[in-house]
Amino acid sequence: MKHCVSVKQLSDPVLLDKLFKRADELQAMPLKDYPKPLEHMTLATLFYEPSTRTRLSFETAIQNLGGQLISTENAGQFSSAAKGETLEDTIRVVNCFAEGIVIRHPESGAAERAAAVSSVPIINSGDGTGEHPTQALLDVYSIFRAKKSLDGLKIALVGDLLNGRTVHSTAQLLAAFNVELVLIAPESLKMPQAYLDELDKQSIKYTEVDNWQDALGEVDVLYMTRVQKERFKLIEDYKAIKDNFILTLDQVRKMKEDAIVLHPLPRVNEIAVEVDSDPRAQYFQQVKNGLFVRMALLEEIYSS
Ligand code: NCD
Repeated sequence: MKHCVSVKQLSDPVLLDKLFKRADELQAMPLKDYPKPLEHMTLATLFYEPSTRTRLSFETAIQNLGGQLISTENAGQFSSAAKGETLEDTIRVVNCFAEGIVIRHPESGAAERAAAVSSVPIINSGDGTGEHPTQALLDVYSIFRAKKSLDGLKIALVGDLLNGRTVHSTAQLLAAFNVELVLIAPESLKMPQAYLDELDKQSIKYTEVDNWQDALGEVDVLYMTRVQKERFKLIEDYKAIKDNFILTLDQVRKMKEDAIVLHPLPRVNEIAVEVDSDPRAQYFQQVKNGLFVRMALLEEIYSS
C-alpha cells in the first residue's frame, strides 16, 4: 500500500487481521519499546477542516513511531490556499519537505487528487462527505477488540447516513465481514444509493428504517453519528432533524448487556452524557483504539 485514499484499499480481511493484531500488540507495549520506522522522516498533517481526534492521533502516532511532524491545522486559512493556490500545487510543495501527507479536505475526491500528484504517501483523513478510511479502520478495530470477532454481528448505523463520511467508509469496511447492517436514519438523511450498491455487490444483508424501536434490543453494535450541520444548505432543515435520534440511558438499558455503543465523535447531543458511565459506552476507548490502529497502518505503509 502506498497511499491510503479509499477504504477499498483496506478491505482485505488478511490485511485487517494483521493491522488489528498489530494494534493490539502496540496497545500492550510500553512507550519506550515502540518501533521507530519513521525515524529520520518528516510527515505533514494538512487539515482544511476542523479536527481534534484525527489530527492529534495521527500526530501522536507519527511521533510515537519516531517521525518528525510539520502541521497546518487550518490549512484553508493559514496555507497558501487562502491566496488561491491549487490543492495540487500545495501537495507538490509539501512533497519537498515531507515523506508523507495526512490530509483532510472539504471536497469529496480531494485525497485522490492529492495522491495523483504526490510521490509521497497520501493518507485521507476525511474528504467532504466522501470517505474517512482510517476512521472506518478504527471503528471496525473497536468492534473487533470489544467483541473478539465480527462474525454474525448485527450492527446499526444511526443518524446522518447521507452526509456522514465515517458511515460511508465504515459500512464499506464492515462489508468485508459476515455482518448484518441496520441503517437507521430519517428519510432525508438515508445512505446514498452508491454505498448501498456496494453493500449489494458484496451480498451484505441490510435493512433501512427510520426509527430504532425494534433494533435497539437486537443489535450488538449501535454506531451513533452527529447530524452534519456544516453540510446543510438551510439551517432550518438541520434544526428540524437534529434531535431525531438521541440516545438516553433508558434506551441503552433496553440494549443487550454485551452490546456496545460507538460514535466517531464529536457528539453534539445525540448521546446523553449519562450514558458515558454505562459499560456499553465505548466511544472514548474507540478514540484510544484509533491511535494504535493508525500506528499499525503507518508501520504497514512505511515498511512495504
Ligand atoms: C468525524 C469526521 O470528521 O468525519 N470525526 C472524526 O474524524 N472522528 C465525524 C464528525 O465530524 O461528525
